[in-house]
Amino acid sequence: MSEQKTILRALAGETLPTPPIWMMRQAGRYLPEYKATRAEAGDFLSLCYNSDLAAEVTLQPIRRYGFDAAILFADILLLPQALGADLWFVTGEGPRLSTITDAGGLAKLKPADAVHDHLAPIYETVRILRRELPTETTLIGFAGAPWTVATYMIAGQGTPDQGPAHLLKAEDKSTFEGIIDLLTDATIEYLSMQVDAGAEVVKLFDSWAGSLKGDDFTNYSLKPMQKITAALKERHPGLPVIAFPRSAGEGYVGAHDATGADCIALDDGVTAEWAATNVQTGGCVQGNLASSHMVTGGAELVEETRRIVQAFSNGPHIFNLGHGITPDADPENVTLMIETVRGG
Ligand code: CP3
Repeated sequence: MSEQKTILRALAGETLPTPPIWMMRQAGRYLPEYKATRAEAGDFLSLCYNSDLAAEVTLQPIRRYGFDAAILFADILLLPQALGADLWFVTGEGPRLSTITDAGGLAKLKPADAVHDHLAPIYETVRILRRELPTETTLIGFAGAPWTVATYMIAGQGTPDQGPAHLLKAEDKSTFEGIIDLLTDATIEYLSMQVDAGAEVVKLFDSWAGSLKGDDFTNYSLKPMQKITAALKERHPGLPVIAFPRSAGEGYVGAHDATGADCIALDDGVTAEWAATNVQTGGCVQGNLASSHMVTGGAELVEETRRIVQAFSNGPHIFNLGHGITPDADPENVTLMIETVRGG
């Protein structure tokens, strides 16, 4: 038996008898202990920047469930804040940022390598976690992919269709590409420091990749992720990278090669059977149980979990949801999912 952690073995291309498992947003509002710590911190951003409490909420789902990986507790929007954008969260609605809509706005942002002072508490969270985590648990660092972060910076909030970002891309391509390039460089700096602090794997969240089509998908989702992955692997040889071009559909085909990532995370818009044939042939895949099963539970949860494990059983696979677990999920259903994955 290899001594290496299960997630690292899957990321290296090994087919394991039982897939390792973790869950997007595993530290979150469905857990009473998360809500208690968040209340102690005050608001969400205060929790992100409080290294001790951020480490504590990262550890909570590990203690409760024994997941194979912990994901750093932070947010993809801390990076634009470190670049100089204003950021706040409106309770019940979501994030708000000062908007960047022209060359003047872009010029006011800080350079890529000026983010570290602001992000120092995040690196400290990573250092605490590497000390505190069980030896068998892998620590995953993360950042948003440039396109997804740009959609929030341009619109100043989440948008159903990413309209403002598409508009800037159409009307002022040089400013749009300047934002993507700055975010690409800043993400390399940010993730590289997370790795120096102790992150063993990094994941790029391109949550809005699905709204980019054709050449735009290649140029603004895949290519920036490829550039980040290549730079990180050059600085940190052997570092495994997970890329998540969410809702990419057919765009998942060839995504390992196009991004250079070791693992492609899949949302639940594709079937595991299709992805086993069309995506897993390129390397490790992660996913892709619909997060609604964490609300509904029961026999369907068990059946779907078994189906996904079975479909991906001939190649490297990390079990996960297709997107983050929602606040209305029942913590007992997470136990049932894990028992099903581990117990058959
Ligand atoms: O997966 C994890 O548990 C790690 C931590 C993490 C969070 N956000 C914590 C969080 C990660 C990896 C993210 C990524 C993130 N943040 C994404 C990409 C992934 C995705 O879900 O699509 C995006 C788009 C964001 C931006 C963001 N942060 C939004 C739109 C919101 C509000 C939506 C909501 O659920 O309220 C957040 C807040 C947020 N980020 C919460 C958590 C646990 C909820 C905050 C709270 O406690 O009130």
